[in-house]
Amino acid sequence: MRKKMIAGNWKMNKTVNETKNFLEMFLPELVSDLVDVVIFPSFLSIPSALEIAKDKIFIGAQNLHFAIQGAFTGEVSPVMLFDVGVKYVLIGHSERRELFFETDGMINKKILSSLSYNLYPILCVGENLAEREKGITMDIIKSQLAKALKNVSPESMNKITIAYEPVWAIGTGKTATSSQAEEVCKEIRTYISTLYNEQISEHIRILYGGSVNPTNAKELFSMENIDGGLVGGASLSEDFIKIIHYNQ
Ligand code: PGA
Repeated sequence: MRKKMIAGNWKMNKTVNETKNFLEMFLPELVSDLVDVVIFPSFLSIPSALEIAKDKIFIGAQNLHFAIQGAFTGEVSPVMLFDVGVKYVLIGHSERRELFFETDGMINKKILSSLSYNLYPILCVGENLAEREKGITMDIIKSQLAKALKNVSPESMNKITIAYEPVWAIGTGKTATSSQAEEVCKEIRTYISTLYNEQISEHIRILYGGSVNPTNAKELFSMENIDGGLVGGASLSEDFIKIIHYNQ
């Protein structure tokens, strides 16, 4: 049985004070026995968020550099994140790929580096609208997965979560239908079994992300191959609580 994960990607939102206020106000309601809850605030807010969240929910990082230290102005390393107590890190989000020109090669380096510093990557993959319309969704996703997971050992795969995020559904209010999302998540699982083996593919968590909200969460998360969600906009408000408790 895979435990569900519901993760909130706050992107470039909320100051340190806003982060503290949100967590101080809502922490009891953000906790669930049934799902692992993770919030990804800005780098600046991570230490305060960790202090408030204790071990009740996880606090993650939205990005990292693959080097351990050095002359990389403006970057944050895996060692620094591990040192403050971060467990999960988002890698390969479509905004990083598109707006910050991250390539599959860089994403692979970030995955390998995270793993060697005991961080747990959430690898984001997904097609854009033109790719979906051309019918090449799975070609794109398989290529993203194969390149991102290059040289990742089978033993490390238990630290990885995959987030399927169709680019056309992110921040657009246009959610994939539960059957569209399930179809791709199922194919991702099958592909992981060909890259690794069935045991690994059965164990790995695959999240859906893209305009998840309190209304569509239950149907999406009830699908056999969808193990939770990566939530953007709706994680910034009390809607996130409703999404975490989607099953009640
Ligand atoms: P959204 O973002 O929920 O606002 O569509 C999802 C994401 O970018 O992870």
